[in-house]
Amino acid sequence: FSLKPFNTFGVEAKAKYFIEINSVEELIETLKHSHTQTLPLLFLGGGSNLLFTQDFDGLAIKLNLKGISEEVLNEKEVLVTAKAGENWHEFVLFCLNKNYGGLENLSLIPGNVGTSPMQNIGAYGTEIKDIFVDCKVLNLETLEVEIFDLEKCRFGYRDSIFKQEGKGKYVILEVRFKLTKENHLIKTEYGAIQSELENSGIKNPTIQDISKAVINIRQSKLPDPKEIGNAGSFFKNPTIPLDQFENLKEKFSNIQGYPNGEFVKVPAGWLIEQCGWKGKQIGNVASHQLQALVIVNATGNATGKEIFDFSTMIIDSVKEKFGIELEREVNIL
Ligand code: EPU
Repeated sequence: FSLKPFNTFGVEAKAKYFIEINSVEELIETLKHSHTQTLPLLFLGGGSNLLFTQDFDGLAIKLNLKGISEEVLNEKEVLVTAKAGENWHEFVLFCLNKNYGGLENLSLIPGNVGTSPMQNIGAYGTEIKDIFVDCKVLNLETLEVEIFDLEKCRFGYRDSIFKQEGKGKYVILEVRFKLTKENHLIKTEYGAIQSELENSGIKNPTIQDISKAVINIRQSKLPDPKEIGNAGSFFKNPTIPLDQFENLKEKFSNIQGYPNGEFVKVPAGWLIEQCGWKGKQIGNVASHQLQALVIVNATGNATGKEIFDFSTMIIDSVKEKFGIELEREVNIL
């Protein structure tokens, strides 16, 4: 069974078995099946943070859980629950249509709602942890449904319990967010948002204006996976100790960094560009010409292995030039 339609890199990989699931009951039934219990499992969401480097010798499960529901909390806030299989951006637009605030800075992020807590998706000054209430998960060992609240999820930068101790142990079924109905918190700290608003002559932006600005910024530098295969940022922005940053600054005076206590977060895109990778293509794979942090399937014919090897070359050259070890953000299978 081809997994090509289920990964935004558009690479070919085969799963031995495949099933599409439309309800939690169906999922539990499938997992109880004796044959299934011995197979490795792979849950497919939007496939936007995934790189297949080999075939999958197990059961791939496409989670089609759909539905959005609301629960009014008080005059100012609302709880909105979205099932795992809802497309992220469509969910954001649904909330913006109702004038619910909190998700606007996260417009146009590829993927589904169910994978958003995995890596605590974030962009332009917001992370889902800022509006997250809890998520319902299926424990794959006990087949019981459990609730993970904010604390239990242990969100960090592009990180959560689901990428650490909880890896492979739970399936996220639905996510609940607390959004505002009025007095929205408008987040414009991000420089690119400010310039977008200035260019459009907007002084008092609404949440819809912020969403439009974010959409414009993303479209201007991030490749659309429908046109050219990619998984967004391929690496995390590395965090290095302050003294290491200061040493680098002596050698590379224009190095950028966002201080965070005793540490500094350095933009990986800048490091990669400085090593000469921006826009560079080897075989079927390239670093995107407008954002070096994004690796693209340039010809549409790249294999996962080719993309992986390309990312290794980038890691090696950044390590050699700056002494910083980049970490892949994309899940490698
Ligand atoms: N930069 C370069 N060269 C490049 C790319 C970036 O010099 O080729 C510099 C830029 O000039 C800028 C800095 O690096 O000063 C940061 O760039 P940008 O604003 O594009 O953000 P980023 O740090 O590269 C992160 C997220 C993105 C998210 C943006 C906006 C990570 C790994 N990536 O990118 O997330 O959209 O911030 O908040 O944290 C994703 O995860 O798929 C993703 C796109």
